[in-house]
Amino acid sequence: MAPTIRVTLAVVVGIRRFEKRLKAVHGAGPGGHGRGIRPWLRRDGENGQRRDSRKDLLRVHLSSTLTAMEAPEMINAGELVLKRWEPEWAEEAAAAVRESLPELEPFLPWATAGYGLEESRAYIRSSVENWAAGTESNYAIFTSTGELVGSIGLMTRMGPGTLEIGYWTRTPWAGRGYMTAAVRALTRVALTLSGVERVVIRYDAANRPSAAVAAKAGFTEVDRSYREPAAPGETDVIVTAERRAAAA
Ligand SMILES: CC(C)(COP(=O)(O)OP(=O)(O)OC[C@H]1O[C@@H](n2cnc3c(N)ncnc32)[C@H](O)[C@@H]1OP(=O)(O)O)[C@@H](O)C(=O)NCCC(=O)NCCS
Repeated sequence: MAPTIRVTLAVVVGIRRFEKRLKAVHGAGPGGHGRGIRPWLRRDGENGQRRDSRKDLLRVHLSSTLTAMEAPEMINAGELVLKRWEPEWAEEAAAAVRESLPELEPFLPWATAGYGLEESRAYIRSSVENWAAGTESNYAIFTSTGELVGSIGLMTRMGPGTLEIGYWTRTPWAGRGYMTAAVRALTRVALTLSGVERVVIRYDAANRPSAAVAAKAGFTEVDRSYREPAAPGETDVIVTAERRAAAA
């Protein structure tokens, strides 16, 4: 067999295996936004964006008050894939949060013993709405074999020109450099979005793993300020670290 044909076949077989694995883990939903296991192959824009007239209307409505994001639905992060959250992953996401509570609870106010399927569904529902509004772009993080290993997202809440990143890792996959890789990839994409001058990570002064991720991903501390602690492991000091477009 000619080498080009062999390589093409290998790639196709690889993609099929990944799809099968995703299907087995999450199931393939019918129609709707981003449904199915490879919406990134139905791309209209360079980064996989698809036009959505509802989104356009909302963007017009919000444009005077908010910075609307136009983030890609899927991002490649080396051995990881970031995919926009979809409703059919709610159950696995709830299980991931529950098994990671000892690590999440100290720093994430919403991560409590009562977290279950309802909360997970509500999170994904609001992610879908906020994506349409252009105010948040939240992604599930998968390994290349389809395991859900965490979550990461971009938020516009700090105002024009700035995107803020938030994240958590599913405990069995922590400490492998996965979140650092995801942050690097998302930051690279975020800094290419229109009007974005900087990306920030805000973490509590006691959150050493998050500080390590920010530093390893090239973020530099620019501010420390006081605020009321909201989660049990937090101090009253929040650190802001940033990466600017020129350094990307
Ligand atoms: C922060 C978090 C996402 C990191 O995820 P991760 O996938 O383990 O991240 P990485 O493997 O890429 O890097 C973790 C780094 O933290 C370091 N780390 C872990 N625990 C640490 C500790 N107690 N003190 C100092 N560094 C620590 C690791 O050594 C590693 O750095 P290294 O590669 O230089 O050794 C994860 O710990 C988490 O989900 N925490 C709870 C939720 C949270 O705090 N989210 C962020 C809110 S701002």
